[in-house]
Amino acid sequence: MTWDPAQYLKYEGHRLRPAIDLIARIPLAAPGTIVDLGCGAGNVARVLADRFAGATIDGVDSDKAMLARARESTATDPRFRWNEGDLAHWHPPYPVDVIFSNAALHWLGAHDALFPALMQKLAPHGVLAVQMPDNHAAPSHEALFDTARSLRWRSLAEPLMRTRPVAPLESYHAWLAPLAHKLDLWRTTYLQALPPTPSGEHPIVAWMRGSTLTPFVPVLGADAEAFVADFAARVEAAYPRQREGGVLFPFSRVFVVAQRGA
Ligand SMILES: C[S@@+](CC[C@H](N)C(=O)[O-])C[C@H]1O[C@@H](n2cnc3c(N)ncnc32)[C@H](O)[C@@H]1O
Repeated sequence: MTWDPAQYLKYEGHRLRPAIDLIARIPLAAPGTIVDLGCGAGNVARVLADRFAGATIDGVDSDKAMLARARESTATDPRFRWNEGDLAHWHPPYPVDVIFSNAALHWLGAHDALFPALMQKLAPHGVLAVQMPDNHAAPSHEALFDTARSLRWRSLAEPLMRTRPVAPLESYHAWLAPLAHKLDLWRTTYLQALPPTPSGEHPIVAWMRGSTLTPFVPVLGADAEAFVADFAARVEAAYPRQREGGVLFPFSRVFVVAQRGA
């Protein structure tokens, strides 16, 4: 799976908004150490650094292109460190004040073990703050899964599907309540008005090229664009364009903020 920072950041405003909403709910005045898991291009880490001016921020990501963009955008700022690594095997060398993750942990499985394990890596009073897309039952994602299950694509594409990577909020409550002094869990639907794209591609297809389609493209190779065209036809039917060519794309996300006790 290879990420394209330019494609991902085309919708930077819509993608940043939930991160800002999450940061606003971190109940600490001046954390010293923050880790951003799945930091991507580093744009959210820069918002964290603005909010918590005294903190050092360790970004962790497995994607070289994303990390290169992050390094470029913070080159002279000693508060940031960018680390290449797989989140599934991440162990901090010190207890961390804030473990933050925006739109990344849904790429990992076994949340029943992962989330409690992250709590154990926090310093006393430390905070785990996570946002994940929860739109996998929406027509956009159903269109992708229907395409992947269709006769032409299923041998290559069906194994790549992650149909329900995020559990119900009640499950996160059950996993974290025994370990947390305070828990704050919520789900929000953002009504995203996506403008027309310069190429005329359906805006939801362009959106998903930057995220959910990412694992499909390298596996399908030369056939990737034919797959995207099949997917795009389903998206066109599910989300008719508005008069000026844009679309309304309701997008649900879940938020988990858990604070450890002393
Ligand atoms: C949707 S992007 C989010 C980037 C950033 N957090 C943001 O909000 O802009 C997801 C990021 O998670 C990273 N990622 C996904 N699975 C990962 C894993 N197992 N280990 C490390 N990074 C991972 C990807 O490389 C990608 O940069």
